[in-house]
Amino acid sequence: MRKSVFGACVTVSMIAGLAVGCMTASADELINVGFAQVGHESDWRTASTKSCQDVFSEENGYNLSFVDCDNDEAAQKEAVRSFIEQEVDYIIIDPIIATGWDTVLTECEDAGIPVIVIDRTIDDSDKYVSWVGSNFKTEGLAAGEWLKAYAEKKGIEEINALVISGSTGASAQIGRSDGFREVAEANGWNILDEQTGDFTEAGGQEVMESYCKSYEGKFNVVVCQNDNEAFGAMTAMDNAGVSYGPNGDVILISFDACTAGLEDVKAEKITADFECNPLAAPFVEEVIQQLEAGEEPEKEVYMVEHWYGLEDAVVDFEIDGEAQEMTVVTDEVIEAQY
Ligand code: AHR
Repeated sequence: MRKSVFGACVTVSMIAGLAVGCMTASADELINVGFAQVGHESDWRTASTKSCQDVFSEENGYNLSFVDCDNDEAAQKEAVRSFIEQEVDYIIIDPIIATGWDTVLTECEDAGIPVIVIDRTIDDSDKYVSWVGSNFKTEGLAAGEWLKAYAEKKGIEEINALVISGSTGASAQIGRSDGFREVAEANGWNILDEQTGDFTEAGGQEVMESYCKSYEGKFNVVVCQNDNEAFGAMTAMDNAGVSYGPNGDVILISFDACTAGLEDVKAEKITADFECNPLAAPFVEEVIQQLEAGEEPEKEVYMVEHWYGLEDAVVDFEIDGEAQEMTVVTDEVIEAQY
């Protein structure tokens, strides 16, 4: 249900000066949007939340009900059901995991509330109007193909990789793992281990501490599925005396490319960082405006993303025959990032 922004009664004098009446100053109405956000686990998530709160502001004509689901799948379904009870106009979901959605999406459909999925995908139901997000498999393939070209440039013949994956079952984790593994298998690399760091700094540190003990001296690549995990992994490697970065013993690869991640690229700690663009909210708003106008939005909208490194990390590589470009990290690039 929509809420009036201005319900004030004002006195107006008519031209003849005879009639004095009462009318609404502005009949503008807010569009009610419920957003069930994953949580607050990473810099990326903070940027995504801010983007949504900026776009869906009262100033822009929206009334946003925001729920931080703290990475709890049950709490996220509960949040969606509470939006149905509130009779919001639209529901935005960033699904913590990719499956288990059909029942609650059917409830949204029965209530006549359009659902827009943002960032991660829902893989077992199509009862949503649109999805706006990233191609996570492409991100994983990019990391793999880049590593192949970079290793060739550096004369590295054997790849022994440790992966710190994101939250298990999240499409961001599934896509990045699948993409990187595909290139690893095609090139005979060893993936020594893959354990979840849950997309958090603490998780990344914990997994890397145990990797440093179990695989001491046996690995030359660490792949962290987001920047926050990479921050934790760096702490663990520092403590274990393992050197990393373009001049170290270990090639450290990360995803997200948020400001702090790019700062670590510039500081020669992370060798390559593969962007996941969190600024999807303006595109979600476009979907809502199309629905308001009775138009049919695109079912899938992909975010544009870039791959980052220093000059030394610039190598030629392709994904499915398409040439890729590395963006060199400078202070201006960092400044412009989220
Ligand atoms: O779903 C996007 C992923 O989730 C980002 O890579 C990560 O930082 C976040 O927590």
